[in-house]
Amino acid sequence: MNYKKAAAEIIASVTDSEQLTAEQAERLMAVPPNPEMGDAAFPCFTLAKAFRKAPPAIAAELCEKVSTAVENSELFEKAAAVGGYLNFYLKRGALAKEVVTEVLEKGDNYGKSDEGSGKKVLVEFSSPNIAKPFHIGHLVTTALGSSLERIYGFLGYDTVKINHLGDWGTQFGKLISAYKRWGDAAAIEADPINELLKIYVKFHTEAEAHPELEDEARAYFKLLEDGDEEITNLWKFFVDASLKEFNKTYKLLDISFDSYAGESFYSDKMPEVVELLKEKNLLEESDGAQVVRFEDENVPPCIILKSDGTTIYATRDLAAAIYRKRTYDFDKNIYVVGTPQALHFKQIFSVLGKMGYEWSKDCVHVGFGYVRFPDKVLSTRHGDVVFLEDVLRESIEKTKDVIANSSTSKNIDDIDEVAEKIGVGAILYSFLKNGREKDIVFTWKDILDFEGESGPYVQYAYARGKSVLRKAVEMGIDYSNADLSLLEGNDEFELVKLINSLGDAVKDAANKNEPCCVTRYVTDLAQLFNKFYNTCNIMKSEPDLRDARLKLTEAACVCIKTALYLIGVRVVEKM
Ligand code: ARG
Repeated sequence: MNYKKAAAEIIASVTDSEQLTAEQAERLMAVPPNPEMGDAAFPCFTLAKAFRKAPPAIAAELCEKVSTAVENSELFEKAAAVGGYLNFYLKRGALAKEVVTEVLEKGDNYGKSDEGSGKKVLVEFSSPNIAKPFHIGHLVTTALGSSLERIYGFLGYDTVKINHLGDWGTQFGKLISAYKRWGDAAAIEADPINELLKIYVKFHTEAEAHPELEDEARAYFKLLEDGDEEITNLWKFFVDASLKEFNKTYKLLDISFDSYAGESFYSDKMPEVVELLKEKNLLEESDGAQVVRFEDENVPPCIILKSDGTTIYATRDLAAAIYRKRTYDFDKNIYVVGTPQALHFKQIFSVLGKMGYEWSKDCVHVGFGYVRFPDKVLSTRHGDVVFLEDVLRESIEKTKDVIANSSTSKNIDDIDEVAEKIGVGAILYSFLKNGREKDIVFTWKDILDFEGESGPYVQYAYARGKSVLRKAVEMGIDYSNADLSLLEGNDEFELVKLINSLGDAVKDAANKNEPCCVTRYVTDLAQLFNKFYNTCNIMKSEPDLRDARLKLTEAACVCIKTALYLIGVRVVEKM
């Protein structure tokens, strides 16, 4: 229910359309600083010139003019001039009826929009490196990207989830050389990442004493680039084994991809890029390498071909962007990659612009900060690198301890399943809690704080609501015909208004590419729901009011579930 729009239409109906249209009025609408001052405020300052009056006088005049329309409106109680503002007061019961009915009718679809219909958004995220650990930084891109994809999908965009795997480059020559010397296929199958990492590290140590190993590695990478069968099969073995391991994590996170076209996918698509750059006279020589230079002196040249003629990460990204445009004809091409790569993407997008691709403006780098561990309490099975899977497992274990010791745990049907949803959700929530550019400070105390701003806190509000609804059903209460206009109390009204703004929170998140807008929203919603739950004593209310409150509870649960889904967190019915 867009009540700002309704108020704007009333104002527009009493003003000259040359002075003010309904759309303009709606854009100007604000929220009064406190609820006693009404629910929507129209600032009269911009009309001062046209009306040749001071804003308070305009507000008073408008108030007079809208009085009949407001009296006849089903939605508004009254309008009042306060200073330079015309404030509108909602009829609480009417809003509750309108909003709660809509939520329960639409269910999971409540809050969706079709603003993105017919538009395509690519979201590239996660993109771990083959034979390297899936570390905690990769979880941030995974959480952010997956959430953004869900947010755009919710707004009606056609989305494509891309995992740009780091599966190409000179390091594979080293890995092959290492494997041929010390590799053990069975050990790799059993524990791919650790084994591959082990021989890779060994390669580096050995190469210090025997530099000829580096030449051997280069030769192997050359063979790989030339498509040598034996070497290609080895590479494939590494990729498959690593992917199997990564997929375990994706499964735990409930995340999937539409495309795994990684760097290797573009290995045969780079000669064309080099050709195009040459044709457009963009390549320049620099110390034997071929580079593209920029007018902006603060941006270093982008290397396209190294002095030995081989391509690099950047070349593959150019090929990837061009391929994506041709294949998907995207409206927006998003890269969710850590902020340290901001310059890289700036270079890539500028080169695309120089190549004459006007769609380079539709490419967006969505960066994020580092994860910091102030209390160093993580188990360090893997030395210094923090493995994502270890963190998730630890979170699940810790959650299990908490719920096993809680008084309500006897009601839980499957403790492992619940612990998994809460433990994984807690991590995802904490990563999407604040603006993405900020560093994430990782402490178990905050992440698993069931009473603070945390995933478990929000999940608990949901489970609490569900438990009341179950109780009502057990008692044979049929609240389907409840009179929602009875919901007029302060806590009910605030809750209804927040439920009403789910769609706005999602739009805001998409506009800024900031899932934290949704996290903020769902946290506020859980807090308001708890407040309502604590003050309104649902089951002890007089029957008509109780039934209306049950419906409101159901609507709140629908919105919490949807918002949590958008940040990748699953709900539990009991906890
Ligand atoms: N694999 C890279 C890393 O782990 C991230 C890839 C980012 N995406 C891209 N299109 N360059 O750092």
